[in-house]
Amino acid sequence: MSEIRVGPAAAFADGERRIVFHGDTQIGVFRWDGEYFAYENLCVHQGGPACEGMIMHKIEEVLADDRTYVRQKFSDTDVNFVCPWHGYEYDIRTGECIGDRRLKLRSFPVVERGGELFVVAN
Ligand code: FES
Repeated sequence: MSEIRVGPAAAFADGERRIVFHGDTQIGVFRWDGEYFAYENLCVHQGGPACEGMIMHKIEEVLADDRTYVRQKFSDTDVNFVCPWHGYEYDIRTGECIGDRRLKLRSFPVVERGGELFVVAN
């Protein structure tokens, strides 16, 4: 087990991301709503740099009482990042591909110690 230094927690603003390296493995580290999440930067589709894509609130459909389409809106709670190669979207809190939640990015714990953040990798 090894720890990869990310940097000072105080310098990591909410909504930011960093890419750190562990040998040949790239790991995307996100801070969202005060929590940290880390995933291998390797899209389940064709190996693109999933963690480098746009971060955006999930788009949800608003339906009328009769279940007909009204409009789309951004979710108040669910946030995804989008692989820049072909648009696979991943839940920022779980690393699951939202198109098929059986598919998931490899995740890593993030720990804070002495004001510094580390990704724990094995
Ligand atoms: S490689 Fe990520 S969507 Fe295709």
